[in-house]
Amino acid sequence: MDRVIIFDTTLRDGEQAAGGTLNIQEKLDIARQLERLRVDVIEAGFPISSPGDLEAVRLIAREVRTPVICALARAHPGDIDQAWEAVEEAQHPRIHVFLSASDIHLSYQLKKSREEILQTSRDMVVRAKKYTDDIEFSPMDASRTEPEYIYQILEAVIDAGATTVNIPDTVGYAIPDEFGGLIEGIFKNVPNINQAIVSVHCHNDLGLAVANSLESVKRGARQVECTVNGIGERAGNASLEEIVMALKTRSDFFSLTTNIDTTQIYKASRLVSELTGFTVQPNKAIIGANAFRHESGIHQDGVIKMPITYEIMDPRTVGIPASSLVLGKLSGRHAFNERLAELGYSLSEENFNRAFALFKELADKKKEITDRDIESLIAQELRTVSEAYHLDRVQVSCGDRGIPTASVRLIDPDGQVLADAALGTGPVDAVYKAINRLVDVPNVLTEFSVKSITEGIDAIGEVLIRIESEGVTYTGRGADTDIIVASAKAYVNALNRLLAVKGVAG
Ligand code: KIV
Ligand code: ZN
Repeated sequence: MDRVIIFDTTLRDGEQAAGGTLNIQEKLDIARQLERLRVDVIEAGFPISSPGDLEAVRLIAREVRTPVICALARAHPGDIDQAWEAVEEAQHPRIHVFLSASDIHLSYQLKKSREEILQTSRDMVVRAKKYTDDIEFSPMDASRTEPEYIYQILEAVIDAGATTVNIPDTVGYAIPDEFGGLIEGIFKNVPNINQAIVSVHCHNDLGLAVANSLESVKRGARQVECTVNGIGERAGNASLEEIVMALKTRSDFFSLTTNIDTTQIYKASRLVSELTGFTVQPNKAIIGANAFRHESGIHQDGVIKMPITYEIMDPRTVGIPASSLVLGKLSGRHAFNERLAELGYSLSEENFNRAFALFKELADKKKEITDRDIESLIAQELRTVSEAYHLDRVQVSCGDRGIPTASVRLIDPDGQVLADAALGTGPVDAVYKAINRLVDVPNVLTEFSVKSITEGIDAIGEVLIRIESEGVTYTGRGADTDIIVASAKAYVNALNRLLAVKGVAG
């Protein structure tokens, strides 16, 4: 087989990134974009981990029909049954069972013998196989496991019915040549290996996730597990866009293809960044803001004469818009709708009407509306949770004399108007204290950042905050041409997310 299966785990391992929680609607939006990107498999979640995850996987399984929809399960009967409950309505369901294999995990975490692990692995694959044919098995921490034991496990689970065997470098410890050697060893020493696809799942703790994945593919692996923008547990997972573009750009070297529609990469990256709140670093390969920017005069001269002099990829192949035309006050519904479609959004009529009204409101404050403004507007305003509290008004008085003072008006879940005022160390602190007087939910602000979406004095300021309550992190976003208003919106947004989880909705 000369095609590499792209298994996207943005919604599972990606969502495990600290502070990256997504709500159900956001997960569905990402899954739909992954379908447009034409990934082969979407790992949509870990259903046993929470009722919200179960519901999200179920919804994705129902709505996203082309790719395989996969649910993760520990090697426990209850996990497997729940995983099946989540994916049973999928057009192409998969259950992914994992169990630790390394002696480190066995002795310190599971306190089980190798024989017990082997038996459980086999039994749980048999259990999953009763539900569906498409079964993946992962011996967790494989890169720190004795290879002979991995061979034994793989032979047993393939015998029991696993159709994909995934080799995780769970802690990002492997070095390319060594990891490639493990993959080669698997092909040589597992007698029934040709009855399964060999997959790899690499973490980026040493910055080697993509290198390890590519080395494995060279040595015969035909599924790569990866995430958009490389997000994931700790330092993240192998980045989808880097794997795909390496295989495409260096097809002379790999002689391998993928199913991916690379022109959807940029949109997928923007969407994941907007919804998780994880900003993409400017020098990030493929999709960073500087990835196709030439600063040196010599390079600019070369690119003008012939792009191939300093560009190994055409930015259009990853979907970076050739020119970013701006909309403005006079742009009508049709132009706005066309731009939304170009950016990959398909909104219901109700949401379109709301988005258009917000666009017009923004155009009154800001002369030129760019694609980034539109993306932000959609992310902030249309993808929010149902609002328990709505920010009605906010006003501050501040400066280098006097005490910063804020007054805030909120509409509560019963439609009542609430108002209060507070003093603070600065205007944002005053606003947050005033909101806290109205919405009494104990929480700690753990992150606060403001960035400008586009250049210019009239740019929209985007505020991203994270708050923690009872050990759970909630992200809030707000955007406005006034950064104090944006800060207030972000805080109310985070509180609404927290309240939605607690069952308080508007
Ligand atoms: O990193 C890992 O080992 C995992 C497994 C669940 C495949 O994410
Ligand atoms: Zn992982």
